[in-house]
Amino acid sequence: MKLLSIAGARPNFMKLASIANAVRGINESNPSTLNKIEHIIVHTGQHYDEKMSQKFFDELNIPKPDVNLEVGSMSHAQQTAEIMKRFESVLLKEMPDFLLVVGDVNSTIACTLVASKIIYPDSCEIIRPLIIHVEAGLRSFDRTMPEEVNRILTDSLSDMLFVTEQEAVDNLQNEGINPGKIHFVGNVMIDTLYQHLKLAGKINKKDELGVKEAYGLVTLHRPSNVDKPETLKPIIECLKTISEGLSLVFPLHPRTKNNLQRFKLLDDIEKNDKIKITTPLGYLDFLSLVKDSKLVLTDSGGIQEETTVLNIPCVTLRENTERPVTVTEGSNYLIGTNPEKILEIVGQILAGKGKSSNIPKFWDGKAGDRIVSRILEEFSKF
Ligand code: UD1
Repeated sequence: MKLLSIAGARPNFMKLASIANAVRGINESNPSTLNKIEHIIVHTGQHYDEKMSQKFFDELNIPKPDVNLEVGSMSHAQQTAEIMKRFESVLLKEMPDFLLVVGDVNSTIACTLVASKIIYPDSCEIIRPLIIHVEAGLRSFDRTMPEEVNRILTDSLSDMLFVTEQEAVDNLQNEGINPGKIHFVGNVMIDTLYQHLKLAGKINKKDELGVKEAYGLVTLHRPSNVDKPETLKPIIECLKTISEGLSLVFPLHPRTKNNLQRFKLLDDIEKNDKIKITTPLGYLDFLSLVKDSKLVLTDSGGIQEETTVLNIPCVTLRENTERPVTVTEGSNYLIGTNPEKILEIVGQILAGKGKSSNIPKFWDGKAGDRIVSRILEEFSKF
């Protein structure tokens, strides 16, 4: 069986790590070379900086990509189109039985679209690969988010949809997806978290950064929050107010750094000794900081899930979330960007009145194994 997986941008890597690990486990437990899974990894190059890409492959023990399409940064249309152009010939050369995509980034939809229309040569037993979407069915119901468009399109073209929470199953069924294609298996990102907690526990990133007291951790990169000065400036002002009572650690995504510079806001926070700015962090460093923090302020998707599992209060600076289980069962507060509201919730958490989480169903570290077993079952029907 030949499986080709796509990795493109930072949040993909933690998910792919779980799949690669599950494939490795199956191959190692299977002495017959005939029945081994051949796992090809294609990196689109959507993220390319060492700190946004290679560091994750190293730390998470993901096999070196067989191919790197080296696409880089450009507009959405150009990036998606460029990935499609470069991926088509790779797909025709490899002709895998399955294409596996994760998450909701431009690389996810670009490669899905190519695979959905590809026609393998007559000599091949199948016409095209079956398309597998891991982390299917999540919906923010906000089509101004590029990721929402990517999710809807990828799900509508996929043959096997692996989901992390019940609401995602409901969303897919409401969109008319055949229930036979939907598999509720849990969360591969959480598999990777459990696998690396011990290692992260050996790191003391807080001390390394010279942070002596309790702290909150901040991440921001959503275009809706960071691309316009009229939204970014009040958020930064709010962070400055919070830092008067709680030190903050703020690893800067390249998009956010560029914009802080453009809007002349960077100097100001760099001078603030209660806000520790860092470059983007590797997986283990970041996990060590989340684990030891008082709270996290973020607009990320995955961090809402990781904080739920770690039972760390998460203040999500967005109007919506595609991961509602983190709010209903987890430690996540969906707040938006109103400074008063943010300060109120942060105050509640610091007063010890934060909510604590239950671990959502199937977030047990075994999602990757369930996915690979299900794929093998499907392959046995070929
Ligand atoms: C992308 C994903 C988003 C994900 C985020 C995580 C899409 C539509 N968006 O957004 O869902 O949450 O990744 O980071 O796919 N840059 C660098 N080095 C890099 C990569 C990017 O400096 O390695 C800079 C470039 O200036 C680039 C900007 O960051 O223009 C944004 O990168 P891009 O991949 O376009 O989008 P993200 O905001 O990272």
